[in-house]
Amino acid sequence: MLTNIFDAHAHYDDARFDADRDSVLRSLPQKGVCGIVNNSVDLENAERILALAEQYNHMYAAVGCHPENLENLPGDYLERIASLTQHPKVIAVGETGLDYHWDVPHDLQKRVFEEQLKLSLDLKMPLIVHDREAHEDVYHLLRQYRPHALIHCFSGSVEFMHETVAMGMYISLGGVVTFKNARKSVEVASEIPLERLLLETDAPYMAPVPFRGKRCDSSMIVFVAEKIAELRNMTVQEVLDLTAENAERFYRI
Ligand code: NI
Repeated sequence: MLTNIFDAHAHYDDARFDADRDSVLRSLPQKGVCGIVNNSVDLENAERILALAEQYNHMYAAVGCHPENLENLPGDYLERIASLTQHPKVIAVGETGLDYHWDVPHDLQKRVFEEQLKLSLDLKMPLIVHDREAHEDVYHLLRQYRPHALIHCFSGSVEFMHETVAMGMYISLGGVVTFKNARKSVEVASEIPLERLLLETDAPYMAPVPFRGKRCDSSMIVFVAEKIAELRNMTVQEVLDLTAENAERFYRI
């Protein structure tokens, strides 16, 4: 059986798990899952993320505000995130970042991302960055502040990957590398220095082939690891061992 599956980024608070969340989460360690970093997207779900992390040994929490969830952002949101990070199972600020796919004002997104980025530096905590169709603006801030960051669901070019690694940051890849049209992700997976690569699901989204379009859970990382093993001429277990070790180093677990 495969072991050491570490899911560097997931959303188990999502409504798609409402019917069977507990049975899914309980089943994962038996399927080889050793760690999950569950991300909040706003302050409202951060409380539930903490409750889940308390309930499951193998689950950790990240607290932050996602760029799609900035409506009704409270004025004291940053203080509230800072206070939630005091919880022992919180290991990162996130997820935060920029998403220009959605119609949320860019100025607001940039301000809230920059504030959370600076908070991660003040707290000396890892930062989980979401970058969708916003590479130039995301990298402008990363270059300026150099946070201890993971670019999750990395969708940039090989050049951006090299720059990320040169700045000391990490990248996580998920189901997209298994998709037929995933030329860029495959190039990144083939060339990234192995000590900077993490695996993730972004569950319930982004299920790998052969489950594409279905609800994703952390056990499906095996299919991502299989693809990377093939690209890097490694065994699947070697990919899982290495990426779990990278995740523990990055998150300081
Ligand atoms: Ni996410």
